[in-house]
Amino acid sequence: MQAQKALPLSSWHIAFPNDTNPHGTMFGGKVMAILDIQAGIVASHYCHKIVVTASTEAVDFRNPVKVGDRLETIARVVYVGKTSLVIKIDAYSENPLSGKRRHCTTAFFNMVALDEDGSPTPIPPLIVETGEEKRDFELAQLIKHNALERKKKVQQAAKDE
Ligand SMILES: CC(C)(COP(=O)(O)OP(=O)(O)OC[C@H]1O[C@@H](n2cnc3c(N)ncnc32)[C@H](O)[C@@H]1OP(=O)(O)O)[C@@H](O)C(=O)NCCC(=O)NCCS
Repeated sequence: MQAQKALPLSSWHIAFPNDTNPHGTMFGGKVMAILDIQAGIVASHYCHKIVVTASTEAVDFRNPVKVGDRLETIARVVYVGKTSLVIKIDAYSENPLSGKRRHCTTAFFNMVALDEDGSPTPIPPLIVETGEEKRDFELAQLIKHNALERKKKVQQAAKDE
């Protein structure tokens, strides 16, 4: 399978009143849903397969998205294993009047490509060239490793109950 470059994809949203809490800022769960969909689009755009979310890294919300703000998400495949991908997504809010832009969060999603039977299926390796791509690849490797360790512990704990 031929190795591929990953292109960043961006998308835009608006924080509508029904996406926000009584303080006028967007629900964290709503932001997560937007990021998850974006991660799925970027992953399937890369490998041309059905993809599912296997797990997510913990997400820290640095700045709120206020009602009426635009929300831009910029997502890229940063790591590819045999059947899995890690997607990095940066999210920024933008005030529509002042144009002031703030970094809301950086999130990592672990996605897995599936075949027609719903089993994990191989995907093309990722070309990693620039300094930024190498840094992101190493970070994503660590994130994936930690996700698998956590999964093992949780599964073991469930068996022990
Ligand atoms: C994710 C899923 C496909 C993994 O199935 P599995 O049989 O455990 O898969 P395997 O152990 O063969 O691993 C397949 C790949 O997934 C990766 N993987 C599995 N669980 C993972 C997790 N929790 N986090 C990160 N990666 C994971 C493995 O490392 C492996 O990657 P690699 O091939 O690149 O080395 C399966 O658990 C599933 O379908 N889950 C539900 C997904 C879903 O519905 N998501 C939406 C939310 S409801």
